[in-house]
Amino acid sequence: MTAEYKVHGDVAVITLNNPPVNGLGHATRLGITEGLAKAQADAAVKAVVVTGAGKAFSGGADIKEFGSPKALAEPNLLSVILALEATTKPVVAAIHTVCMGGGLELALGCHYRVAAPGTNVALPEVKLGLIPGAGGTQRLPRVLGVETALNMIVSGEPVKSELLASLPGQKLFDKMAASAETVLEEAIGFAKDVAGKGGDLPLVRNLPCKHPQGDAYFRFAKNMVGGMSKNFPAPLKCVDAVQAATKMKFDDGMAEERRVFTALMFTPESAALRHLFMAERAASKIPDVPEDTPKREIKTVGVIGAGTMGGGISMNFLNAGIPVKMLEMKQEALDRGVATIKKNYEAQVKKGKLKQDKLDQRMSLLSTTLSYDDLKDCDLIIEAVFEEMGVKEQVFKKLDEVAKPGAILASNTSTLDVNKIASFTKRPQDVVGMHFFSPANVMKLLEVVRGEKTGKDVLATVMALGKKIKKTAVVSGVCDGFIGNRMIEQYSRQAGFLLDEGATPQQVDKAVEKFGFAMGPFRMGDLAGNDIGWAIRKRRATERADMKYSRTADKLCELGRFGQKTGAGWYDYAAGKRDAIPSKLVEDMIVEHRKELGITPRKISDEEIVQRLVFALVNEGAHILEDGTASKAGDIDMVYLTGYGFPIWRGGPMHYASQVGLYNVAATMRRFALNPRDDAAFWQPAPLLARLAAEGKSFS
Ligand code: NAI
Repeated sequence: MTAEYKVHGDVAVITLNNPPVNGLGHATRLGITEGLAKAQADAAVKAVVVTGAGKAFSGGADIKEFGSPKALAEPNLLSVILALEATTKPVVAAIHTVCMGGGLELALGCHYRVAAPGTNVALPEVKLGLIPGAGGTQRLPRVLGVETALNMIVSGEPVKSELLASLPGQKLFDKMAASAETVLEEAIGFAKDVAGKGGDLPLVRNLPCKHPQGDAYFRFAKNMVGGMSKNFPAPLKCVDAVQAATKMKFDDGMAEERRVFTALMFTPESAALRHLFMAERAASKIPDVPEDTPKREIKTVGVIGAGTMGGGISMNFLNAGIPVKMLEMKQEALDRGVATIKKNYEAQVKKGKLKQDKLDQRMSLLSTTLSYDDLKDCDLIIEAVFEEMGVKEQVFKKLDEVAKPGAILASNTSTLDVNKIASFTKRPQDVVGMHFFSPANVMKLLEVVRGEKTGKDVLATVMALGKKIKKTAVVSGVCDGFIGNRMIEQYSRQAGFLLDEGATPQQVDKAVEKFGFAMGPFRMGDLAGNDIGWAIRKRRATERADMKYSRTADKLCELGRFGQKTGAGWYDYAAGKRDAIPSKLVEDMIVEHRKELGITPRKISDEEIVQRLVFALVNEGAHILEDGTASKAGDIDMVYLTGYGFPIWRGGPMHYASQVGLYNVAATMRRFALNPRDDAAFWQPAPLLARLAAEGKSFS
């Protein structure tokens, strides 16, 4: 049983006990109703207190039961709340620390609520593409007023209990306790008092629910919310549901809430957001690295190279309060690196996002050096020097000499073999890839590259550290490009073939952006620098001569059009501006190129463009899963959602493919394989994909 029942004098206390956040799983729900029945039947009990053990009142639905029949089994949350309301003895919720989602709905079903300050109160269902489904949209406006409640429901963001308690006229909390430690005791005292007084028990459902401006307010709210929530249906439905609370009888409003909740449950957007929620949690779990694997302590970090990446990487640790020592070859490079970091922080101060004293504090954690000896106390050293194996070799040999035993040695390489890098040291178990994305202080994604010999404790440490610096850390095996760039290469190749066959860069970009990518492949190339891909293709020419590319990108680079940094790339750019202007010169270059190849251009539909680009990701993703570079499809999705601007509401390439249906995806790939201008071998569905498609299964 995950809810305990105990009688304190004449007050029964039901304590939810389902760590970590007292999720309202089936056993917990059953425990509450059984406790209520006991209290009801015991003449010596005069009142009931419901509270949560440990670090939460309740965080809401039990995510372990997501999608399982248990989630809906009776007593479901609605039935539990009805049982609370029907109890003829006063029921008091003793709320502390976390009171969210179903936890808040449960509390709203109690007759009274006593809360500790510092409690995070929220209805976060909208973040999963849903609306609250157990009365939240009907009861919260009745105790907080329509506007406050609607803001909370539409944003899903937590609000502190003391702030809510200070709102004039609020009926959410009947009493504020002194602290989380005393809330239970105070709630028991409160319960005794109200039991002694007798009289009718108050129910939130009986309170009125109105907005003084009525429909005019809701029209305004819909305009605001609609404008901000493009591609996501749930926020607008939150407004509808709260409006229903103001217009319908309580039970009719509840029925309306249920109807909308159920309909949203079946939307692809909610499926994608729920997948993202689960995949994000699952990403930190590595199949063969148990959760209790001991971690190394990381108190100081060394960063080698103060260039684009080194600076951004350092900021992550400074932000988390971890001292950083940056090493370079020349003082000028260090000065430049420090100045850039400072400039970035100052820009944040200017925008009001950072206080000056925080800036000073962060900069005080940063020190610099030209000598490797100064890195001997660092617990973690991250290398971000030039992308050349020879340079990496020098650096890692030096690190092997100076780093203290047990220090983790990480490389930010984006393409080089981490096993080889590890072999430059006598401690390959301590070597790992930490592949940050640019700008490293902004981008959420961190690919943790696991070498053949990387220690499990090193992995566990780096994954935990990733969380500490607020990254989404995903483990990748060693291969060319790791998860993200290995897949993007296939996507870029398709973008090139599309140009050869008749598309323009702007058509491709527009189609993909309409699908929801933050940026199409050509605008992306101009932003990142087209020379990066050029260098990779040159290397490939010797390493993987079988890989076929459109020559257009090389021709672009031969013209010196590297992108925004050279003022021209796939597009033209006006001086100092970032707006991509279609380029006549590039168009002519592509036309000329087609002529050389003897291609008669054809009209290509936006649908084909999107399918070829996205399914290219999917097929390579399937190979990546199959060869073990990624351990789960959800990891691949996290890489694309947090590092490559894949539309959130589509849940990542692998989830999207599963939604389209792998059978259809595989059939489309086989059709693409017949296109003589494309790469027939690539379009053979990866064996894993073909097998799942044949069995009618999905990647999950
Ligand atoms: P960068 O050229 O901006 O910075 C490299 C810095 O390393 C320079 O300041 C240079 O003086 C310094 N350096 C070179 N050799 C050194 C040595 N032996 N000892 C100390 N310092 C040395 O390059 P960037 O873009 O920061 O890239 C660094 C690494 O990060 C590369 O491995 C790159 O592949 C990787 N990376 C780059 C990304 C990007 O978008 N720029 C994204 C992810 C990874």
